[in-house]
Amino acid sequence: MEEAVLCERQKEVKQLEETKAGVKGLVDSGVAKLPTIFVHSLHTNSAKDDNSCHGINQPQVPVIDLRGLADHDETMNENVPRKEMVKELKEAAEKWGVFQIINHGVPFDVLDDMLEGVRRFHEQPQELKKDWYSRDHTRKVAFYTNVQLTAHIPVDWRDTLRCGNLQKPDHDESIPHVCRREIGYYSKHMLRLRELMSELLSEALGLDSDHMTRLGCLNSMNLLCHYYPVCPQPHLTMGTVEHADSSFITMLLQDKIGGLQVLHDDHNEWVDVKPVRGALLVIIGDFMQLISNDKMKSVKHRVLATKGDRARVSIACFFNSDDKLKPYGPIKEIVTENDPPRYKQTTYLEYLAHYYRVFGFSPLPHFKTNII
Ligand code: OGA
Ligand code: NI
Repeated sequence: MEEAVLCERQKEVKQLEETKAGVKGLVDSGVAKLPTIFVHSLHTNSAKDDNSCHGINQPQVPVIDLRGLADHDETMNENVPRKEMVKELKEAAEKWGVFQIINHGVPFDVLDDMLEGVRRFHEQPQELKKDWYSRDHTRKVAFYTNVQLTAHIPVDWRDTLRCGNLQKPDHDESIPHVCRREIGYYSKHMLRLRELMSELLSEALGLDSDHMTRLGCLNSMNLLCHYYPVCPQPHLTMGTVEHADSSFITMLLQDKIGGLQVLHDDHNEWVDVKPVRGALLVIIGDFMQLISNDKMKSVKHRVLATKGDRARVSIACFFNSDDKLKPYGPIKEIVTENDPPRYKQTTYLEYLAHYYRVFGFSPLPHFKTNII
């Protein structure tokens, strides 16, 4: 690339970083034309239009109703629906790598308040918000735009508030005051729902209910509270570029604006994840694919830049092992002579190093055994 272009880009990054106001700051300043660092390649744009799946015949991400499991409904015969649900979940995790759950026991007002609280954080006066702006990974809470702003261009039309590893979320003073109560309640519910998901996923793999808990797969929880400002040229950029999550699982809450799409491999099409009131989206991440020996698949997803007149809010809750040095490989109770391990053992640290090395591509092939 020409040096002048590189120079221009570095200048744009530096300017944006110095405002400590993120993408929302650009919008507030009245920008009508995107700075070049936000312009995604022609390839991305044509992909966006060509194989997006439109119309009423669009396949839908499966919705799984957990009524009776999460809310401890005594009137239901526990065993029958549970088996059914596990079957549905297994099929969805195999075929789609993603599914929505409803009646999961997190009350509507907790979900609504969380979305509002996160919106309030991002929409508060810049004078107050800028103190949270940081790229320091050791900080428990930080606000930034694009985690890889300097290393990966083009960048996305999105700002993020990150809340790392909240163990006692309802007493955590490090959370910004404008959304502390909401993040506290929401996180407590996420920690509770984690137990149920851990059991159901273990059962879907044909294992004892407590198997994944014993492996410590979901011990750590990190929240990314995203804000997707309305974009003046949405066709030129992305809200979140195509990726798969590195987690074991991610639970995602989105408001009703829409824009999230998942890649449905059967048809190689991008399918809209239609906002469903009160639903949470469960995304299978790379580590889940790895330990399940490809029985569950980590799904590619992306977010289109926000059109219309209202910014989009979403909260991604990542569950991972809390031990970055613990080796994980295909679960030995799953592999057989006919279906030997497809992956070598790896640690989260090693995996993550590779994730960033090949950013934008799947790091999983790197860890494959040469059996298949
Ligand atoms: C993510 C992600 C989607 C969204 O944070 O990894 O895919 O809707 N987010 O914000
Ligand atoms: Ni994601």
